[in-house]
Amino acid sequence: MNTLRLGVNIDHIATLRQARYPGMLDSPNCEPDLVAAAAICERAGAVGITTHLRADRRHIQDADVYRLRESLQTKLNLEMGNTPEIVEIALRVKPADVCLVPENRREVTTEGGLDAAGQLDALTPTVARLNDAGIHVSLFVEPDPKQIDAAVQLKAHSVELHTGAFANTQGEAHLAELKRIREAAVYAHGLGLQVNAGHGINYVNIAEIREVAHLSELNIGHTIVSRAVFVGLETAVRELIAAMKG
Ligand code: PXP
Repeated sequence: MNTLRLGVNIDHIATLRQARYPGMLDSPNCEPDLVAAAAICERAGAVGITTHLRADRRHIQDADVYRLRESLQTKLNLEMGNTPEIVEIALRVKPADVCLVPENRREVTTEGGLDAAGQLDALTPTVARLNDAGIHVSLFVEPDPKQIDAAVQLKAHSVELHTGAFANTQGEAHLAELKRIREAAVYAHGLGLQVNAGHGINYVNIAEIREVAHLSELNIGHTIVSRAVFVGLETAVRELIAAMKG
């Protein structure tokens, strides 16, 4: 049986703050507070907190990453694009985990997995530097053996399988995507990688994801923050962890 662990992505708590207080992190009025939110997620059973420091700083700010790194009782998983500026920040912050993702300025959220196989030259030095700093590197990839082979070649510790297509399709296409995720998890596990998953997982489709063999950690954000509006953050996290157990 899987013992699935939850990493809570708190980007959208920062989205709410930035909607009212952009550039005003020092204001006493600035809310909601990310460190307080992270502590609630931890108390509710999250094994880590995930944030995506985007090049455009649309939600998470540099200061958030440093404050979270200092305050978390569990671990910080920093999602980031492979750009020199953000790599330097990661090496200064030294989160427990880094998840490398593709990043496109115009997207609303991450679209698709990283083309690790097509970007070996650009990724090799970054993964090596992060590994040397003692950071676990994960690659956010499509459930595709070619991308998983690239993760092994790059000496990544984990892959995070992109579940966005699974979450956003119905019927045959949805089942085909679930099959791809299942097969990719078996393949990646067989090659010695830790297998995580994320994107678009919610309180309903978790029933299918929790049956996928070899999954270790799920990184889930939007559905938790949405549910928290109605039931509070702690209950929202607890409910999702209960759903992960089935
Ligand atoms: N994992 C990765 C790599 C992501 O980019 C995101 C979205 O920021 C998530 C997980 C969380 O996705 P969601 O907010 O849909 O749960």
